[in-house]
Amino acid sequence: MASPAPAALHESAFDVSSVRADFPILARTVRDDKPLVYLDSGATCQRPVQVLDAEREFLLTCNAAVHRGAHQLAEEATDAYEGARALIGSFVGAHIDELVFTKNATESLNLIAYVLGDDRFDRHVGPGDEIVITELEHHANLVPWQELARRTGATLRWYGVTEDGRIDLDSLELTDAVKVVAFTHQSNVTGAVAPVEELVRRARAVGALVVLDACQSVPHMAVDFHALDVDYAAFSGHKMLGPSGVGVLYGKAALLDAMPPFITGGSMIETVTMEKTTYAPPPQRFEAGVPMTSQVVGLGAAVQYLDKIGIEAIAAHEKSLVAATLAEFDAIDGLRVIGPNDNVNRGSAVSFVVDGIHAHDLGQILDDEGVAIRVGHHCAWPLHRWFGVAATARASFALYNTVDEVAVLADAIRRAQRFFGGTRSTGEA
Ligand SMILES: Cc1ncc(COP(=O)(O)O)c(C=O)c1O
Repeated sequence: MASPAPAALHESAFDVSSVRADFPILARTVRDDKPLVYLDSGATCQRPVQVLDAEREFLLTCNAAVHRGAHQLAEEATDAYEGARALIGSFVGAHIDELVFTKNATESLNLIAYVLGDDRFDRHVGPGDEIVITELEHHANLVPWQELARRTGATLRWYGVTEDGRIDLDSLELTDAVKVVAFTHQSNVTGAVAPVEELVRRARAVGALVVLDACQSVPHMAVDFHALDVDYAAFSGHKMLGPSGVGVLYGKAALLDAMPPFITGGSMIETVTMEKTTYAPPPQRFEAGVPMTSQVVGLGAAVQYLDKIGIEAIAAHEKSLVAATLAEFDAIDGLRVIGPNDNVNRGSAVSFVVDGIHAHDLGQILDDEGVAIRVGHHCAWPLHRWFGVAATARASFALYNTVDEVAVLADAIRRAQRFFGGTRSTGEA
């Protein structure tokens, strides 16, 4: 039996049961008829029927290759695809010519890092230049920058991390050699929200471009790229109730306009002769080949869904879940939160270690109880090394989770503690 939720931590005004009704998967059971408690939305979110319906409707009525063909289906498909771009643009404060569809956020970040190594771009990185990231990054916002440094002879530097898993702003001074500052808006491990305004101010002071990894922020809080004044941003459809196989790259219009392409071929051209090609304006320049179509339409439906509920209400609801989690965790002996222990400037990923229990063992016991969490290094190996742990457990919430599920999580952790009796290795690195 789950213990009752802490008294002050009721569900917010938000009607979570009607939200849950839109996600049939949440009604299933797992492992001997245990109700599914899905706490792994940081890895991938579940999708509401509205998103599935939008994709199905598109495929049943107007599936065709977009931006080609003069028949009615091709026109309707193009309208649906571009209509979704407009919806997504208004959701993140961007113009339609500033949003490029990619396969996922990883591809978006690789696209920027690749083009920044191309000397046709007047902001390209070269030998002696510096690229700055943070020690908090997901590998998707780390490895492409290592590769850019390797290809160009630039140097990779990074901000360190504070004890509570935030960017340590005192750990690095930027110089005029810095050409790019790339960082995550909200850590997928510690949940810490970055001080974007301050980091943008520092980057601007040295004339550097700013790249924001917005994977874990766009689904959970109001994000406006124009207001944040970042130069580029990346996020993924599958982390925001949308389909997998679609990611988004935001770039300021003037920058995208000045950038050479990444992948070349069909649909991204203006004129082609056997000798030479000129390129279409953005965003088409960066969308070579037949793009993902039903996925983009599904992502358009996902932002409509998020908009209808209201991203502020979602953020408040998730905040109440994190408050409940931190309160429950505080009462569990031997549990250490890896990240901020307060609920200020933090999002809904809560990573933790439990004395005497390896994260993988913990994940298995929780799974036996129907609780799906993430265990491991969460594609942020350097951060785990910094914390001196090989692996952590992570509960990550979305709009459809409830305070009761937080209590189930806490009870399952206590059960794991009883089972292991605190005798196993912790997985300390
Ligand atoms: C902060 C962050 N950045 C980037 C990614 C990569 O996203 P994708 O695998 O969808 O490309 C993730 C996924 O977990 C993430 O959490």
